[in-house]
Amino acid sequence: PRSARRDGDGVVHVAGVDVREVAAEHGTPAYLVDEADMRGRARAYRTAFEAAFAEIGAEVDVYYAGKAFLSTAVARWMHAEGLRIDTASGAELLTALRAGVPGADIGLHGNNKSDAEIARALDEGVGRIIVDSLAEIERVADAAGARGVTAPVMVRVTTGVHAGGHEYIATAHEDQKFGLSVTSREGADSPALAGLLAVLARPELTLQGIHSHIGSQILDASGFAAAAHRVLELRGTLAARTGVLVDEVDLGGGYGIAYLPGEVALDPERVAKEIATAVADVAANLGQPLPRFSIEPGRSIAGPPGTTLYTVGTIKPVRVDDTTTRLYVSVDGGMSDNVRPALYGAAYHAEIAGRLSTAPPALARVVGKHCESGDIVVHDVWLPADVRAGDLLLVAATGAYGRSMASNYNLVPRPPVIALAEGGTRVLVRRETEDDLLGLDVG
Ligand code: LLP
Repeated sequence: PRSARRDGDGVVHVAGVDVREVAAEHGTPAYLVDEADMRGRARAYRTAFEAAFAEIGAEVDVYYAGKAFLSTAVARWMHAEGLRIDTASGAELLTALRAGVPGADIGLHGNNKSDAEIARALDEGVGRIIVDSLAEIERVADAAGARGVTAPVMVRVTTGVHAGGHEYIATAHEDQKFGLSVTSREGADSPALAGLLAVLARPELTLQGIHSHIGSQILDASGFAAAAHRVLELRGTLAARTGVLVDEVDLGGGYGIAYLPGEVALDPERVAKEIATAVADVAANLGQPLPRFSIEPGRSIAGPPGTTLYTVGTIKPVRVDDTTTRLYVSVDGGMSDNVRPALYGAAYHAEIAGRLSTAPPALARVVGKHCESGDIVVHDVWLPADVRAGDLLLVAATGAYGRSMASNYNLVPRPPVIALAEGGTRVLVRRETEDDLLGLDVG
């Protein structure tokens, strides 16, 4: 987080709070989130995109992608900062609603929404349902018809633009499950155009827009512009065919962050300007008036303000070859609270947080407590050679896709989420207990 500082004794303070006090009061492992930092990033995205799109005469809405991390407090923060909420399941939707976010300011995604999820979205009057297949278009229309309501839908399309770090995160290339492709084959309408026509054919649906999400942890803005180009071409094709000019284009999320010292995140102002300039050019070339735009950042708002606080346990020096010894530093969590290193090979940075050490650096690997050798928290890091059991260890930039992808592997209870603000702490999500876990066991 932006506010992290070391005091004269080398102790890390986040938002003015001594991490030793957080550990004493709330235990470890714990996810810490710097409230002012998270809200500031939400505001930065909103103001940067509003300003850049105002320059080209277009409006833009920012939806916070709740999959990165959602709790009722976070939904309230985001809404108070002028963002709407993008949800991808019934319980994410319920969280936003419980936070008091009006349905009209919520979107619902998902490639396999349940009947119950569609029903909740319609009953709560969500502002948009992003439909992901021809079958789903019919299901949403039927459900809306049964209720006597009209459902506002966006059609999720895939533009073939491949962006983002890891194959499982990149979503817009052809051979994958999301969206409807803009590519037409053998002279037939593209699946995306067929989807838009299918929506127009159902009076229970209003076609609100076209949605494109190209991937995640993207560090080069040109992919957004390329995808927007294809989306606007599709919009033109639909208009030529039907006379219907789609009102809104969503360009998804995916803005990359810095995980390691020295890495550079996408800058919201720069990326907003680059995208706005590109879409203005494309629309002008196509002779189209600009639509309203929206974006769905998740990681870039939730990631950097979050850190995970662990306590070091067992330390084991392992000779890896004739010249190198590596310290295996075990912490009291692991792949159950952050699966990203195991799943994507994601790199993180760790530091001893509770004291100053002048010991020379030693090659270390931070590992968890799970029964799996891939249970790695930080693959390679230099830690002071005197790292010892009881040390507090902070891993940076864990706020996105950490708690939200946590598991109970080995029946390890999931850590709490603690907000730090103005020198104090507040529990957003309490620590799971063994009783919580065993309470599910009714056999
Ligand atoms: N909108 C849609 C439709 C999405 O599918 C996603 C992410 C987002 C917005 C937000 O993307 P962001 O701004 O957070 O990159 N678990 C992976 C990331 C999966 C992203 C899935 N979709 C990870 O930990 O890297």
